[in-house]
Amino acid sequence: MRKKVTVVGAGNVGATTAVKLFERGYMDVVLVDIVEDMPQGKALDALESGPVVGSDAQIRGANSYEPTAGSDIVVITSGVARKPGMSRDDLLATNAKIISDVTKQVTRHSPNAILVIVTNPLDAMVYHAFKVSGLPKNRVLGMAGILDTARFRTFLAQELKVSVREVQAYVLGGHGDLMVPLVNYTTVGGVPVGRLLDQATIDRIVKRTQDGGGEIVRLLKTGSAYYAPAAATVEMVDAMLLDQKRILPCAAYLDGEYGIRGLFIGVPVKLGAGGVEQVVELELTSAQKQALQKSADAVRELIGAMERVAA
Ligand code: LAC
Repeated sequence: MRKKVTVVGAGNVGATTAVKLFERGYMDVVLVDIVEDMPQGKALDALESGPVVGSDAQIRGANSYEPTAGSDIVVITSGVARKPGMSRDDLLATNAKIISDVTKQVTRHSPNAILVIVTNPLDAMVYHAFKVSGLPKNRVLGMAGILDTARFRTFLAQELKVSVREVQAYVLGGHGDLMVPLVNYTTVGGVPVGRLLDQATIDRIVKRTQDGGGEIVRLLKTGSAYYAPAAATVEMVDAMLLDQKRILPCAAYLDGEYGIRGLFIGVPVKLGAGGVEQVVELELTSAQKQALQKSADAVRELIGAMERVAA
């Protein structure tokens, strides 16, 4: 039997993720949205691409959660997206409510699923889903580190005129302006990037990475990024369903690792069939430790604000 993945939210991020997952061919996909007929339409359209892309997988749309039953992974993208001038944090109250409702529904129908949260503000939403679901920490995680790292790798590859595949990097921390690109762990064909680019250029690329989501919002004007977020989500699903044991930056629950306890933040994790199988602790410089702590403080503040509006 094929694996089964549910994607909740058939907006740009959800629909793009669902199509990319369908194209992988080894999992069936259910796309859920509250808008009547819309997820069914998008799913049928994707299904009809099967003969061309060579996927025999099934993809269907739904307005209820019964068809999602028995999912191995549930990706949650529902919520409102950023408009120009809004920060990710502006979405807090609306999206917290949506995440509560969706999490309760999906865990009722798929009690063994791993939850991948994509909704912003990411680190607070994944914490919220963890609390609402009551699932163990290895089965709830958030997408964002791969996206932030992919932006960093893209800009470095463009600057150095090399293949993106040669650029290895980590961006840690919360998915916000305080994210922490680890320049000393960034290599190009194995060579530390500090030997290839001057500090001013690296600083400029770091800044562009931190503002990467905002740059897209300013261009799109009516929403936020979706191709790269969807691609990052698919990489996480593959790593878990195929038990690849990849080491990827994701929002994971920290229980003392990196000196942080009781919240989700972007760190390298080992992803396999068990979900988050391990938090990988890199040795950080004291400046990086401070930056990560500052990012964690911002996430903690946001969780506090969320708990106040949810109370
Ligand atoms: C981004 C938004 C979606 O980083 O958080 O593109």
